[in-house]
Amino acid sequence: MPVLYVVACGGRPAADLPAFVATAQADGWTVCVVATPDGLKFLDEPTLRAQTGFPVRSQYKRPDEPDVLPPADAFVVAPATFNTVNKLAAGISDTLALGLLNEGIGLRRPVIVVPTPNIGLSRHPAFVAGVRTLREWGVIVLFDPASVPPLDSDPTTPAPPFPWPAATAALRELPR
Ligand SMILES: Cc1cc2nc3c(=O)[nH]c(=O)nc-3n(C[C@H](O)[C@H](O)[C@H](O)COP(=O)(O)O)c2cc1C
Repeated sequence: MPVLYVVACGGRPAADLPAFVATAQADGWTVCVVATPDGLKFLDEPTLRAQTGFPVRSQYKRPDEPDVLPPADAFVVAPATFNTVNKLAAGISDTLALGLLNEGIGLRRPVIVVPTPNIGLSRHPAFVAGVRTLREWGVIVLFDPASVPPLDSDPTTPAPPFPWPAATAALRELPR
């Protein structure tokens, strides 16, 4: 079975991963979850470990430790923070998650990124440029600037729901 790495960054949607993982597994993926150090704070590690059969990795291993995860055939970054999107577009590898993603991009593995910026962050020039750069590299970025509320919108307006259905749909469109 092909191996999918689901990469979770530090945002609240990381708590929803079990349902997304279950759908990917039902679609025939062997799923491993990798988290950024901040992403770990938002997810339920024991549940994901039991569900996938693999530990949730978040740190680079020691040189003499064995790899505990099979190599990835594809990646979904969900939720993808402003921070990780920008660092990924700059080729920075200062978390295990970024290191694996950078390697995946270099190896031309499919990478789907599902950002979750707030109104301000989504308009930051680094984020706008980062999304453009990632797309130029062939990364699928599920982000539509038109979906961002206008600057004068009520700041108490709740954020739209995280686009898990779009993430699943994009995953199903990948060549297998
Ligand atoms: C409660 C909470 C919710 C957050 N939600 C988001 C978010 O939705 N999007 C985002 O880009 N950052 C969010 N952040 C900020 C990130 O967690 C922070 O930038 C962190 O450094 C990201 O690290 P990472 O990219 O390595 O996961 C949130 C932080 C907290 C404390």
